[in-house]
Amino acid sequence: MSIEQLADTALAMVAPGKGIIAIDESNATIAKRFEAVGIPNSEENRRAYRELLLTTPNLNEHISGAILFDETIRQSTKAGVPFTKVMMDNGIIPGIKVDKGTHPLAGCPGELITEGLDGLRERLKEYAALGARFAKWRAVITINVDDGLPTSTCIEANAHALARYAALCQECGLVPMVEPEVLMDGTHDIDECYSVTEATLRALFSALHLFDVDLTGTILKASMVVSGKDCAEQASVEEVAEATLTCLKSTVPAILPGIVFLSGGQNDHDATAHLNAMNQYETPWPLSFSYGRAMQSAALKIWSQDLVGNLAKAQETVYARARENGLAALGEWES
Ligand code: 13P
Repeated sequence: MSIEQLADTALAMVAPGKGIIAIDESNATIAKRFEAVGIPNSEENRRAYRELLLTTPNLNEHISGAILFDETIRQSTKAGVPFTKVMMDNGIIPGIKVDKGTHPLAGCPGELITEGLDGLRERLKEYAALGARFAKWRAVITINVDDGLPTSTCIEANAHALARYAALCQECGLVPMVEPEVLMDGTHDIDECYSVTEATLRALFSALHLFDVDLTGTILKASMVVSGKDCAEQASVEEVAEATLTCLKSTVPAILPGIVFLSGGQNDHDATAHLNAMNQYETPWPLSFSYGRAMQSAALKIWSQDLVGNLAKAQETVYARARENGLAALGEWES
């Protein structure tokens, strides 16, 4: 795969008015989401749920790609059609989560490092053969002002791992979707989130440069600059949009084909409103979405009430969220 082909895929991922649906929850994470709405976490329920999402009528009007989990990329519809084929037939680019989750970072109490580099080259080759065209790796940065977190050690270690994974992706013909998530958890204010996000992105792009990652074939999955979830003073939509844009413009090279955001625990309305507000401005890159919870939560709740009878209604909700976020990616959403 040439770098031009990777760049074409990256541009298609952020095509105007389109974004990504993240359905790459690990079995442990989907267990939590299912448990919250009373759905038993069986392999068949996971398969049926992902089929519901991926076969939503007209999803491709607003969705360019979907991120799958290892189990999901090997699954098929009830009728026996591999999910990757369903996606490709509908013009939805298959992506895959390739990290192996977060673990405590030795020497840095309270902080996490993402693992999964061992054997990654072989796994990437297999995923590419299964039809994946891009791969996601999520690093997590925790803010805790009282404990002096994050440390620069944690930021650097995660940036280094992200860069090693990104270089391997490009070697194996996959677009890396690099995701350094600064968590919303905590009482910190938006200014603290800004400085941590700025330091995280600076370290990331420096590490990507160190490992010779070609930015034209790379997508950034970023967290927005927001107030901590438990901060007494919550920044407005306009403040979030301005702070996030200033932070990105100060740290992310303009040559990058696009930036997509995670929702990170924001409610549906805020996730869409923030993206829409940012897209009122001229930006060096397309800004779109790669939401998990903010794409799925409403549909999951509806489906949980009747796994057979509510299927079409749940799909209508997935489509509605895709449409809203697709409009926000154009700056044309109206609340
Ligand atoms: P959320 O939008 O629910 O944060 O999930 C996106 C994602 O892929 C996190 O890695």
